[in-house]
Amino acid sequence: MSQPFDVAAMATLYANKSPQDILKFAFEHFGDELCLSFSGAEDVVLVDMAWKLNKNVNVFSLDTGRLHPETYRFIEQVREHYGIAIEVLSPEAAAVEALVKEKGLYSFLKDSHGECCGIRKIAPLRRKLSTAKAWATGQRRDQSPGTRSQVAAVEIDTAFSTAQNTLYKFNPLAQMSSEDVWAYIRMLELPYNSLHERGFISIGCEPCTRPVLPNQHEREGRWWWEEATQKECGLHAGNLIAKN
Ligand code: ADX
Ligand code: SF4
Repeated sequence: MSQPFDVAAMATLYANKSPQDILKFAFEHFGDELCLSFSGAEDVVLVDMAWKLNKNVNVFSLDTGRLHPETYRFIEQVREHYGIAIEVLSPEAAAVEALVKEKGLYSFLKDSHGECCGIRKIAPLRRKLSTAKAWATGQRRDQSPGTRSQVAAVEIDTAFSTAQNTLYKFNPLAQMSSEDVWAYIRMLELPYNSLHERGFISIGCEPCTRPVLPNQHEREGRWWWEEATQKECGLHAGNLIAKN
């Protein structure tokens, strides 16, 4: 398939442009076919920026079945605040049941998070992206010095493209810092996940997320029992491929 634009050249051109410029570029090329992944955390900034550019923006969340009650409530709050239909994707019931039957509800504490994330996050995401042309994420470079320091404004998604489908991935917030994101949330009085009021910075599933101490990096609150350089659950596996 011929590419609608030169990805490497556009990644360079957009490296230091604003998130809104990157989103505008994404909408110009993909229109309503661009889908936005929303985790129910501070990436509400991405939803806000995208919605201001396109009221029909397609937003989806991966419901692993293990999110915090606060996150479910927040996803609902965002749906109502913007008047958008957030698509909530569930994992395949039979796969979850088989995992839990064989290894229990906390297999990830012993076996590492790969298998559980594979079933609860990656398979539903793969299903969603198998027919998508482009998606946008709230990934930022400062979220993980180990794995995200090279995140580009736009890239080919090497993890989820298939022989039939070249998938484009936009990371409009790549250059924003946590401070920038929170300044935006506070200045525009966006809704936010109430877990942030209790010391949580990075928010994922309830059993795999904890608040961090002062001056601890936000990533230390995720899968803290595992090796820091591998703290990607597979949604952004391209980050690991790019480093190896
Ligand atoms: S993760 O891979 O470690 O879980 P992280 O929590 O840092 O990701 O979030 C980075 C971006 O990945 C989010 O801004 C969002 O675009 C996407 N993402 C993460 N978790 C989800 C989820 N449950 N549903 C939809 N998108 C998600
Ligand atoms: Fe399972 Fe934890 Fe991954 Fe959530 S983050 S899918 S609970 S291993």
